[in-house]
Amino acid sequence: MNDKPDHLRPELPDFWDKRFDEGVTPWAAGGVPAALADYAAGRGDRPRTLVPGCGHAWEAGWLAARGWDVTALDFSPAAVATARATLGDWPGQLLCADFFTFAPETPFDLVYERAFLCAMPRRLWPDYGRRMHELLAPDGVLAGLFFFDDTPKGPPFGIRPEELDALLGPWFTREDDRPATDSLPVFAGRERWQVWRRIA
Ligand SMILES: C[S@@+](CC[C@H](N)C(=O)[O-])C[C@H]1O[C@@H](n2cnc3c(N)ncnc32)[C@H](O)[C@@H]1O
Repeated sequence: MNDKPDHLRPELPDFWDKRFDEGVTPWAAGGVPAALADYAAGRGDRPRTLVPGCGHAWEAGWLAARGWDVTALDFSPAAVATARATLGDWPGQLLCADFFTFAPETPFDLVYERAFLCAMPRRLWPDYGRRMHELLAPDGVLAGLFFFDDTPKGPPFGIRPEELDALLGPWFTREDDRPATDSLPVFAGRERWQVWRRIA
């Protein structure tokens, strides 16, 4: 039994609704992180891409404008309304749905992570690796910015490097790992760009 009100429980949409409704979104970058821009420029294809916990959805809109087939998803109706305002009339798909339960028609080639894993209470993490594996096509890639820290309170809930290895190692092989160059103050010095390829 959880005694906290719903708007204090980050595992629930209400928590995020309140923050979007009040405009208190210190994680919001206002644009596309440099590491994603570099990565996208280095890919010659147009991968079918999922952006879970898309928030304002700047990256989703930017990738779709490059011709990528993008699905942006968030379980907070207020976040989805914000994303809709960002995206306007765009060619992608915007869904109000839970990452753990939505059912895509076909698997994705790429899932983009930013400030999503660290938005979840740690007890939800064990399902993250399995779910990412399930959502990706064989040879698909989980790429994005991961927040490393070990202070107990959150969000953001930081992860230790060995914890992320244990979470993703059974499902993925890491192909890239480098520090972020343009982190916001809330993540500064503790954010890394990583690319994990699905083990078939
Ligand atoms: C810290 S915000 C980050 C938003 C965005 N990724 C960014 O970098 O600006 C976390 C987002 O994840 C969403 N979220 C959390 N758990 C979710 C879940 N299980 N399914 C879908 N969205 C979720 C929240 O509603 C919120 O918009």
